[in-house]
Amino acid sequence: MQLIRVSSYEELSRKAADIISAQVILKPGCVLGLATGSTPIGTYRQLIERFRRGDLDFSRVTAFNLDEYLGISPEHPQSYHAFMQEQLFRHINICPRRCHVPEGCAEDPRAFARAYDQAIAEHGGIDLQLLGIGNNGHIAFNEPGDAFIKETHVVSLKKSTIEANKRFFTSIDQVPTQAITMGVGSIMQAKKVLLLAEGPVKKDALEKALYGPICPQMPASILQLHPDLTVICHVDG
Ligand code: PGA
Repeated sequence: MQLIRVSSYEELSRKAADIISAQVILKPGCVLGLATGSTPIGTYRQLIERFRRGDLDFSRVTAFNLDEYLGISPEHPQSYHAFMQEQLFRHINICPRRCHVPEGCAEDPRAFARAYDQAIAEHGGIDLQLLGIGNNGHIAFNEPGDAFIKETHVVSLKKSTIEANKRFFTSIDQVPTQAITMGVGSIMQAKKVLLLAEGPVKKDALEKALYGPICPQMPASILQLHPDLTVICHVDG
């Protein structure tokens, strides 16, 4: 593992964008695993700037996002589809048909989940997976539980996650209670993983994830077993 401690959110975002840019430059047809949440917004801004300057070309990149709320349409302003369009996709030259985000309104979410994993596998897996970490140690919506789940799956969100995400909705009862998420299989099979942790609120989860026991009660702890993990953190205020 490579742990990079930085002294500002700006620096975290620049360094994360450096690593993603290097991936896109070295392999223009790469597969990126992308994340939503507050943490990667600065990274995406950096990537957009670099694209506008002519330093990055996303025309051959394929993206697979980690997760989506269940029961929410892609047009819903708080959907992760909308987030990705707003924060990244519509500002760069990535091909829309190469932008994959799990379907929150699939008629058969379980069949969709199987097809999602198959699509990732058909693309040769993920070259670089970007991740945030939840206050409770989740990665994507792999919530603390009794077992690690490998495949893309439907999950009930923990109270702590609903609580953390209510800031994006008008009230807590508007927050969906279920989601569809990539499992730890595709994440662990990614060739490189880039984990970002921003803010003192993440300090405890990050420490447990990186140095505590590897257990499904702390889903991010499985990353200790990844052969190419880079962590960029700004958790000391
Ligand atoms: P955040 O979420 O970036 O909004 O803190 C991270 C996560 O829940 O994975």
